[in-house]
Amino acid sequence: MNAPLSFPVQIPDAATVARINPPLDADARKALRERAKRLLRERDAVLVAHYYTDPDLQTLADETGGHVADSLDMARFSHEHDASTVVVCGVRFMGETAKILNPEKRVLVPEMQANCSLDLGCPADAFSELCDEYPDRTVVVYANTSAAVKARADWMVTSGIALDIVGHLKDRGEKILWAPDRFLGDYIQRMTGADMLMWQASCVVHEAFKADALERLREKLPHAAVLVHPESPPAVIALADVVGSTSTLIEAVQSMPNDTFIVATDRGIFHKMRELAPGKKLIEAPTAGEGATCESCAHCPWMAMNGLANLVEVLETGNNEILIEESIRARAAIPVQRMMDFAAARKVAILGNA
Ligand code: 13P
Ligand code: SF4
Repeated sequence: MNAPLSFPVQIPDAATVARINPPLDADARKALRERAKRLLRERDAVLVAHYYTDPDLQTLADETGGHVADSLDMARFSHEHDASTVVVCGVRFMGETAKILNPEKRVLVPEMQANCSLDLGCPADAFSELCDEYPDRTVVVYANTSAAVKARADWMVTSGIALDIVGHLKDRGEKILWAPDRFLGDYIQRMTGADMLMWQASCVVHEAFKADALERLREKLPHAAVLVHPESPPAVIALADVVGSTSTLIEAVQSMPNDTFIVATDRGIFHKMRELAPGKKLIEAPTAGEGATCESCAHCPWMAMNGLANLVEVLETGNNEILIEESIRARAAIPVQRMMDFAAARKVAILGNA
């Protein structure tokens, strides 16, 4: 194997995030929410937000006929909605996926620097070299990748449907080249038994969850259920009562009888969990361990770059439009569409709604 499988990623520090999305007082937030509502109407725009984003953005999306969802459902919603402009509050690959599926629409994002350690940790050139080295393998990439990486893939998957698709490929006797998340890849490999060659990137939020501290917390709270996103390390996944996409974890809080949940994913998800399951107690899974510091502390620094001020700015100016060269977009649409067709055929609700 010649290509390196992991690349260093620069994590934005708190000061950078605060400069891009400064904290606002209650009056400023109220005024910006009103301006955003007016601009969404005037610009024929719809707001689509991920569960990890600022509660203000999630509420605004819900109040204005937009959508709060997991990554693929965000793209599906923008595809089905008839607005000519889609504003994607999340990270870059979510905006790109919306554009891949909706080339005729204008897709805007509040902050162009809002990226993802998995996307940044898998540069398209190096990934392409690896694909060239293994022409016999079916290339399966996670949604958290650039359009250029998707353009080299046979399939794109999300955490909600990855097991079904890789299991299906394994049954067909196919060997997999998987990228970029090594922990999600490892989980899929263990669950399906597929032959998977793995890229070695990771999510800076989920890799920080610590199994030993989680185990001690679980002993103290025997009635709590442990909910884990599969981007987490294997030892954390091993302690889970439920492993799944963000939608699956939200559904678990609503449907399980437990009154307390320890949640190993970005704490932004608590907003929707509290709204849909009021009265349930939600506890962040421990990150860097007692007395230590962590870089992400259960909150994605790139998701945190989205705010009311930069949302209003892009609605006003039309700046930060996602543009993808047409040959790359058209090629990237193949693995994305293949996943959607597979999900529809299997009647599997995409991204964890199963
Ligand atoms: P979901 O597709 O489960 O929403 O996850 C996206 C993501 O970035 C998790 O870190
Ligand atoms: Fe990427 Fe992790 Fe942030 Fe999700 S939480 S967008 S996987 S860095």
